[in-house]
Amino acid sequence: MARGFFTLAFRVLTLVGRLIIVLVFKLLATLVSSNSKQPLADMASASGTQGTRAEKKTMRAVVWEGKPYEMAVRDVPRPEIIQSQDAIVRITTAAICGTDLHTYHGTFGSATPPWSMGHEAVGVIVEVGQSIEHFKVGNRVIVPFSSDCGFLSVEQRFEDQGAFYGEGSDFGSEGGAQAEYLRVPFADDSLVAIPDDFSSDLDWLFLSDVFVTAWTGLDYAHFQAGDAVAVFGAGPIGLMCAYSAILRGASKVYAIDHVRDRLDKAASIGAIPIDFSSEAGTASEQILRREPLGVERSVECVGQECLNHDLKPEQNYVIQETIRVTKYNGGIGILGLYIALGKSEGTPRGELMDKELSISIPAMFRKNLSIGSGPVNVSLYEVMPRVFELVKSGRAKLSWIVTSQVGIEDAPKAYDRFDKKLEIKVVIRFPWVREQPVQVSSEPVAEVETAGEEGSRSEEKSPVKISSGRKKPRRPSQS
Ligand SMILES: *[C@@H]1O[C@H](CO)[C@@H](O)[C@H](O)[C@H]1NC(C)=O
Ligand SMILES: *[C@@H]1O[C@H](CO)[C@@H](O)[C@H](O)[C@H]1NC(C)=O
Repeated sequence: MARGFFTLAFRVLTLVGRLIIVLVFKLLATLVSSNSKQPLADMASASGTQGTRAEKKTMRAVVWEGKPYEMAVRDVPRPEIIQSQDAIVRITTAAICGTDLHTYHGTFGSATPPWSMGHEAVGVIVEVGQSIEHFKVGNRVIVPFSSDCGFLSVEQRFEDQGAFYGEGSDFGSEGGAQAEYLRVPFADDSLVAIPDDFSSDLDWLFLSDVFVTAWTGLDYAHFQAGDAVAVFGAGPIGLMCAYSAILRGASKVYAIDHVRDRLDKAASIGAIPIDFSSEAGTASEQILRREPLGVERSVECVGQECLNHDLKPEQNYVIQETIRVTKYNGGIGILGLYIALGKSEGTPRGELMDKELSISIPAMFRKNLSIGSGPVNVSLYEVMPRVFELVKSGRAKLSWIVTSQVGIEDAPKAYDRFDKKLEIKVVIRFPWVREQPVQVSSEPVAEVETAGEEGSRSEEKSPVKISSGRKKPRRPSQS
């Protein structure tokens, strides 16, 4: 009897014990998984903002609130699928663009802040709408700076270019790419698949804007192999333009800037650095001393907020310089931002941009110059296929312009450093960058590049040393 009772009690206790152990494990598992999946929810609560771990309806994003020289990082609603052709991309690497600095200065953007910033990114698809045919969850993608408009536009207007990310509602923005997630409309025609899983984000990131734009600037100037080119500005676009010109067989490339680090970067790829603020004279004087007839092409990569020889703002200065330096029958490409939006809440210093600029038509006429300008069509059916193949084959390697990699919480500081020209190109990395569906290759994912081989000068100087583990590309000949 007593024995029977003890046996029963023992069994009950064992059962209860097991139950408790199972419960404790379940609880622990929930805690652990919610911790590992939501590192940014922790950040959000740590920084004193709302949003509990359980909700997770918000995400961190770089936000413009209409205060010049200030960027904020805020909790904003996490994007969701709205139309069946949408995809949601979890951003793994984003970049800060020179265009973003015009917003930072209060001279460019939409009329009504706030909006989230950024239009250069690479990421992984985490959700697709029902009509998406070419992509699935887990695909790595490049996000070009504007989306497809979803229809064939025979009118070919600026407005039909689709939505620009990170410029606010006046530009049809769907959100910014300097954020954890981005909704991409008409994703089948707006995203570019990254063909392998073992390359670095930095190999592909600059196809979202700067390389495509810089390449197109040469087309605007009607560049042909053998031409000498003057590239005004050695920021990210100018450097990529100089690099494109070298890849495309320019006889000489002049890179014009006043910042030593940028000129050094340009020299490291074989361009001839010209300091336009130097005592040796203006850029055009210095170049014309070497090329008495001028160069065949020049490309403007600065924009209306440009500085003159005395480092004072003079909005028509660089365009005038391109006219002076370009040869008879030559061409000028204008990539810099020339846009006067006036004063608004979103562009509080917009009135500083003149609505009209005077340039010397007689000088252009006498030399029979042509000018190409305007926002670049980043449509997947234009330049993209060609530049994509250059990156895929390893012929173009673009990560050498990167000088700094930061987490999103440090983005405001990075804007400040980029604006002060202490950085050439800043990229924002997200904590899950290592969680990509990867390692199908037996080769290393990312390793330090060995210096000393031909053409690795720029990598030696750059603090960023990431190689895709693929074959080393051939650099354009510099002799
Ligand atoms: C951009 O190029 C695509 C493809 O050629 C074209 O359909 C579209 O109309 C172009 N956009 C503009 C604004 O010209
Ligand atoms: C002027 O330039 C255009 C190309 O931009 C060329 O077709 C034309 O022949 C040139 N005219 C002269 C007189 O050289």
